[in-house]
Amino acid sequence: MTSILVTGGTGQVGIELARYPWPQDYALACPTRSELDLSDTASIRAYLADRRFDAIVNSGAYTAVDKAESEVGLAWAVNALAPAVLAEAAGKAGIPLIQLSTDYVFDGKKDGPHVEDDPVRPLNVYGASKEGGEQAVRTACRSHVILRTSWVVSPHGRNFVKTILRLVGEKPSLDVVADQLGVPTSAADIAGAVATIVAALLAAPGASEERYGTFHYCSAGVTSWHGIAEIIAAAAARPGPARCEIRPIATRDYPTPARRPLNSRLATGKIEERYAIRPRQWRVALEEVLEGLARAARETTT
Ligand SMILES: NC(=O)c1ccc[n+]([C@@H]2O[C@H](COP(=O)([O-])OP(=O)(O)OC[C@H]3O[C@@H](n4cnc5c(N)ncnc54)[C@H](OP(=O)(O)O)[C@@H]3O)[C@@H](O)[C@H]2O)c1
Repeated sequence: MTSILVTGGTGQVGIELARYPWPQDYALACPTRSELDLSDTASIRAYLADRRFDAIVNSGAYTAVDKAESEVGLAWAVNALAPAVLAEAAGKAGIPLIQLSTDYVFDGKKDGPHVEDDPVRPLNVYGASKEGGEQAVRTACRSHVILRTSWVVSPHGRNFVKTILRLVGEKPSLDVVADQLGVPTSAADIAGAVATIVAALLAAPGASEERYGTFHYCSAGVTSWHGIAEIIAAAAARPGPARCEIRPIATRDYPTPARRPLNSRLATGKIEERYAIRPRQWRVALEEVLEGLARAARETTT
């Protein structure tokens, strides 16, 4: 059996990793928070002590971007210290570690999509803590893949799609930020990309250096939070109620505790070239998530 440790199994990406059709000889271990607490290095070490894995996927994270501004210690513990301990273990065992990371490591001042080597300059605590996690992983585990993604959406947990879907059913109009550019990326697509990477690395353990390092993965195309909300409002108005008006506003008119980059675009050429992973258009991925949510809503009413 090939044994994969997946942290954050109750999160958007973690749920999709658990659902992914892995090869039959793969077994996933998805410990609960009480079995493996990412905020507690002793808990992580205790969990790893008597277990052997062939790869680790760290999809667990402290993702409350605004709350992180006032929970700095917790955000850094989960997003930087935990990856450090996992990377140390993976490095010692000589197994690959896939570390999920974020567009929020950038300040977004660049024009156009960010490439992997662009200088990082996080604007908020969450981004800084994730960048700390990246550095720890690079330092402690040679066979690492850091997979930066953006604007994760899914039918699970809390995310922008679910919030907007609820609000368009309650309000005649909504003000949504239109000057932050990026793409919604489906958690299911991210799980597929992670699975492809894990399979490739395990199939060729001494894989060429080109397979390791930092990669960007997100949907194809570009939009804004406003653009996503427009699609959601249109879907929610099919066939029934009057369509909620989605009004564009500027970031400066929607103050939040954490500053966010105006440009979250990630260039995916490297992962396309080295892993033959081809991102889908963001609209296709978003429509699939909306269909999943509509299906779940129908199932709960019947
Ligand atoms: N969400 C986004 O828009 C976004 C954008 C770019 C990158 N990313 C990155 O993508 C990855 C996956 O994100 P996601 O959206 O799937 O996150 P998510 O839905 O917020 O899930 C986070 C997961 O981490 C777990 N977790 C948090 N604190 C923990 C702790 N102390 N001990 C054990 N588990 C803990 C959560 O467990 P509980 O269910 O118990 O809370 C949950 O399973 C993360 O690395 C994130 O930084 C996310």
